[in-house]
Amino acid sequence: MGRPILRRGKSVSLGIHVREEIPEMYSEFADFEVQRFLGRPDRLYTLDSEYEWFESIPKKEDMRVLAILLNRKNSSGRQGHDHLLIGNIGIHLIDRVSSKAEIGYLLFRKYWGRGYGTEAVSLVVDYAFQTLNLRKLTARVFEPNGASSAVLMKNGFRLAGRLREHQYINSIGYVDELYYELHRGS
Ligand SMILES: CC(C)(COP(=O)(O)OP(=O)(O)OC[C@H]1O[C@@H](n2cnc3c(N)ncnc32)[C@H](O)[C@@H]1OP(=O)(O)O)[C@@H](O)C(=O)NCCC(=O)NCCS
Repeated sequence: MGRPILRRGKSVSLGIHVREEIPEMYSEFADFEVQRFLGRPDRLYTLDSEYEWFESIPKKEDMRVLAILLNRKNSSGRQGHDHLLIGNIGIHLIDRVSSKAEIGYLLFRKYWGRGYGTEAVSLVVDYAFQTLNLRKLTARVFEPNGASSAVLMKNGFRLAGRLREHQYINSIGYVDELYYELHRGS
């Protein structure tokens, strides 16, 4: 499927979401393991609300949400690449006064543990600093989510603080929320 690609990496790229992939995203997003560390477990997502979310993306000046795409050789054998949707990544709470924002991301479960999250974060950092000209990025992680902390630290984020027993997670209990930060050029 043709779509604008904003950043190309070795294994993954970041591109614009297309309407046709919303049902697939919806079913992958429903996976408990994917949802577990995202917060808001009380929220009921419907397919209609996902379409509304998709329609709202270009209207919101304070966020950019991009598709994480696996690079594949063009299946028709022609030169170039086609892409497979494997998750999404967002730059949220974009604050033009202080030139900062917060990132969030998820991969569909079958693509975990292959370095794709690390590369997607490196691409979104580049997009945020070079294209949006932001100065600082932050990210919030629930402490048991070791993979997410590792992804951030491998991209140069530093632990800036923690809120103790800040989030309730079913089957774990109250967990600390960790705050990570990255300054451009650090
Ligand atoms: C978090 C997430 C994006 C990570 O993506 P990923 O592609 O699996 O991550 P990568 O393969 O790039 O890297 C994971 C790293 O974490 C490490 N890791 C995995 N589990 C870990 C744990 N419990 N503790 C510490 N490190 C861990 C891996 O060893 C790997 O590091 P390495 O490459 O140096 O060995 C993915 O697990 C996901 O989508 N989770 C559900 C949604 C989510 O939690 N989003 C983030 C909310 S803050």
